[in-house]
Amino acid sequence: MYQAMGYVLKHKEWTYINYGYSDLADSKNPVFPDKMDEGNRLSYQLYTHLATEIEMENKQILEVGSGRGGGASMIKKYFKPEKLVGLDFSGAFVRLCNKNFRTSGLVFIQGDAENMPFSAESFDVVINVESSHCYYSMRSFFAQVIKVLRSGGYFLFTDFRKPHEIEGLERLISASGLEVLKKRDITPNVIKALDEDHDRRMKTILQKVPKPFMKQFREFAGVKNSIVYKQFGKGELLYLSYIMRKKINPV
Ligand SMILES: C[S@@+](CC[C@H](N)C(=O)[O-])C[C@H]1O[C@@H](n2cnc3c(N)ncnc32)[C@H](O)[C@@H]1O
Repeated sequence: MYQAMGYVLKHKEWTYINYGYSDLADSKNPVFPDKMDEGNRLSYQLYTHLATEIEMENKQILEVGSGRGGGASMIKKYFKPEKLVGLDFSGAFVRLCNKNFRTSGLVFIQGDAENMPFSAESFDVVINVESSHCYYSMRSFFAQVIKVLRSGGYFLFTDFRKPHEIEGLERLISASGLEVLKKRDITPNVIKALDEDHDRRMKTILQKVPKPFMKQFREFAGVKNSIVYKQFGKGELLYLSYIMRKKINPV
């Protein structure tokens, strides 16, 4: 699906593929100095609710599953890491990102979350937003995160799961050598974002998506009445968020 989307939608302004996050107290949603960024506010907030938890300035950051590059480019712009590498399975997305975002210290690379093309201990922070539900083995993914993170480095992770899958996921996390510092169920924030963004998502689909793909895109975008929207509402899908840290090597 993601591979196909890279070809179907080449629109430059479509830079995120996630359900978004809205703070339950509106006053906490940030105000962007840049008007261009306003439209993607809710999708960006899925990143900031993680990124504001740690210090990113001058750090070396890896985003796994960087998609169309919106999150990576905004983190680079507003959080000022020294270097940010976006890794994605989709060659079409990676090409699109390298064409659209030409910023020093920001680069996009094609690769697999379960077999990352980086040497050991090469990043201070790994970010992973709404991507891991696509992976074949979470055990392999967590092992790769542990490999590429420096001792004491942070892993910022958010995605949705069925309730019965969470216990197994957390067992893998604790077996991997990652320590959970903070865990949140952000399902209400995601539902609120989908409510707030419904009209904009529908308008984009009606204007930009070829007719034969519209139904599929409505489902994919999580607009009201889509299956995924209803699953969030009924608690059949939970959206979770974790701040984790690679345990510090004893000296
Ligand atoms: C729902 S999109 C999220 C993109 C981005 N994080 C965002 O929030 O806009 C999921 C992304 O994960 C990527 N992905 C799926 N499986 C992957 C894998 N095994 N390795 C790397 N990326 C993968 C997809 O190509 C897609 O770009």
